[in-house]
Amino acid sequence: MRKTSYDTDMPKEKPELSDAMRKKMQGKTFEKNPIKGTKFTIAISSAKGGVGKSTFATNLALALKKNGCKVGLLDADIYGPSIPKMFNINEKPKSDGQTLSPVMKYEVQCMSIGFLADQQTPMIWRGPMVTSAIKTFTQKVSWKNLDFIIVDMPPGTGDTQLTFSQEIKLDGSIIISTPQEIALLDVKRGIKMFDKLGVKILGLVDNMSYFVGEDKKKYNIFGEGGVKKTAEEFQKEFLGEIPIDPEVGKNGDLGKPIVEANPDHEISKIYLNLAMKIKKIYF
Ligand SMILES: Nc1ncnc2c1ncn2[C@@H]1O[C@H](COP(=O)(O)OP(=O)(O)OP(=O)(O)O)[C@@H](O)[C@H]1O
Ligand SMILES: [Mg+2]
Repeated sequence: MRKTSYDTDMPKEKPELSDAMRKKMQGKTFEKNPIKGTKFTIAISSAKGGVGKSTFATNLALALKKNGCKVGLLDADIYGPSIPKMFNINEKPKSDGQTLSPVMKYEVQCMSIGFLADQQTPMIWRGPMVTSAIKTFTQKVSWKNLDFIIVDMPPGTGDTQLTFSQEIKLDGSIIISTPQEIALLDVKRGIKMFDKLGVKILGLVDNMSYFVGEDKKKYNIFGEGGVKKTAEEFQKEFLGEIPIDPEVGKNGDLGKPIVEANPDHEISKIYLNLAMKIKKIYF
């Protein structure tokens, strides 16, 4: 049979893939950058909105401080920042043209998009701009000498969660929920997201768990035991319950969270114990 030049010229063995091609075929790999200036970064999350993430993040940051840790608080909620209000911060962070200095309040180093924009100005941004803001807050803020940065996450499983999980070294996440079925559904999505992205879940917290009336009776307003059950179902730690107390909301609105305003309050004690537990995990 007549040989074609095709038969004779082709090398017998399969050609090697170029490095560039191999990389492409492996899919995108992300480099996880640690936030400079802190030993550990912990995200406070829940796929559901309004369950108390920001309240928890602010109080936990203060409770860790009261346990002798150096703490930073990073408000990663670009569309709905809460830290300026909850910490009553009205000043703008200083910049040297390269980095932003965190604003110090209650001996906690704080950063929020709300420090840079007018409180009532909506951030009408597309996803890539949010990602870019998160990168600025994690790489271009001069966090100094911290043990922990507590990150107050926005609700959902969107760009911010993805950026943090893939591109930033997260040392743990705590998931907040109320015991309501509708909240738990979102929480399950949140757990699966972190599991999939390889972020360690330190545990689940049942916030607004119950209310104690003047009659001293316990009222389970949003249902009972659902968060603990979800923790068991997904083999995660259950970190405890925080009851509903109007003092919590009031202090948050006044810009001085309950742990700072009234450290002897029952709820503050829950936060202080939890902070001790978290400190022990890392130190
Ligand atoms: N244990 C509690 N007792 C009473 N009120 C609480 C408690 N926890 C949170 N709240 C109140 O619930 C409301 C929602 O809390 P918060 O803003 O912390 O939720 P969030 O999950 O951060 O919301 P978003 O998803 O919008 O960021 C606030 O008014 C807060 O004061
Ligand atoms: Mg919030």
